[in-house]
Amino acid sequence: EKEGYNHFMIKEINEQATSVRNTLTQREHIQEIIDDIDEGIQRICFVACGTSYHASLTGKYLIESLAGIPTDVILASEFKYSANTLNDKTLVIFISQSGETADSLKALDVANETSKTLGIVNVAGSSITRRAEYVIQTQAGPEIGVAATKTYVAQLTSIYLFAALLAKNTELLEELEKVPDFIDEALEDIDFIKEISKRYNYARDFFYLGRGYSYPTALEGALKLKEITYIHGEGYAAGELKHGPLALIDEGIPVVVIAPPGDSHRKTMSNLEEVKSRGANVLAIGSADDDALKTKADDIITINPEVNEIIAPLVYVVPLQLIAYYITLEKGHDPDKPKNLAKCVTVE
Ligand code: M6R
Repeated sequence: EKEGYNHFMIKEINEQATSVRNTLTQREHIQEIIDDIDEGIQRICFVACGTSYHASLTGKYLIESLAGIPTDVILASEFKYSANTLNDKTLVIFISQSGETADSLKALDVANETSKTLGIVNVAGSSITRRAEYVIQTQAGPEIGVAATKTYVAQLTSIYLFAALLAKNTELLEELEKVPDFIDEALEDIDFIKEISKRYNYARDFFYLGRGYSYPTALEGALKLKEITYIHGEGYAAGELKHGPLALIDEGIPVVVIAPPGDSHRKTMSNLEEVKSRGANVLAIGSADDDALKTKADDIITINPEVNEIIAPLVYVVPLQLIAYYITLEKGHDPDKPKNLAKCVTVE
């Protein structure tokens, strides 16, 4: 069922525009959920693991800046160790591809005792869909590759819809309709990314830097790299660099800089210069008309200039997934079945 692709992962990467398009159909259902719960919600709390945690982090940036509702993000495995202070004015959102992640399920049972709960889940009929009070079904279709790709953009789509509807932000709702095309455009660079990946497979360590909305994208890029290439990758908020990791930047170390147009851009550029002056090999992802970025980076993967930093998480992740995929092939590993990992983690 790989439909001519060599691996499920690359097939699923290529299905991402469809995944977003199909998930956008959930708009009415999400509006109904909001109509039902909006009244009295004073705080939102996301609980998730891995890639779903990165989608949740993006949700915090979005909901706080668009709807002004204080939002926390808790790793499901840490949920029982923090006091949480959930109450009946809290909406707890569980994001999970499988809907069976043990840590998330445990936390859901606790949250159900005090708060309203919402599951954003890909697998229909899974435990989280049965136990959460409200459910948004992401429409990515079955995902076989262990590395989450099309389900991540579907989770993000649900969160963007949720935040935009909550904030009655019609401009963002219109922007979202364009995302599938932006994703397909990003996929047109596949051959170029394949070439670049050959040049980076020597690395033992990688850094991924991003600010604001691009910070969770940096974390996700690093996670994809780690889980399938077995190369050490770290995602950092670009401003944190000076607080420690800069000491590790040396001649030739690859640093992926996620630099979409927007408020964060100027400062991200200074961070790029900091690593460049210490010899880093900078691979930047930025707007096709960003001339400054082109002169400063060693390599650049370009994205449609219309993709601003707010919707960038849905599009800029695509080249990061491809980099991880092609480095894995260079190294001769199977991207669909990384060692030590399972698609669904049913133990705590
Ligand atoms: O099924 P879930 O979304 O709850 O799974 C959470 C993580 O185990 C999952 O995202 C994991 O990090 C992926 N393999 C990442 O690609």
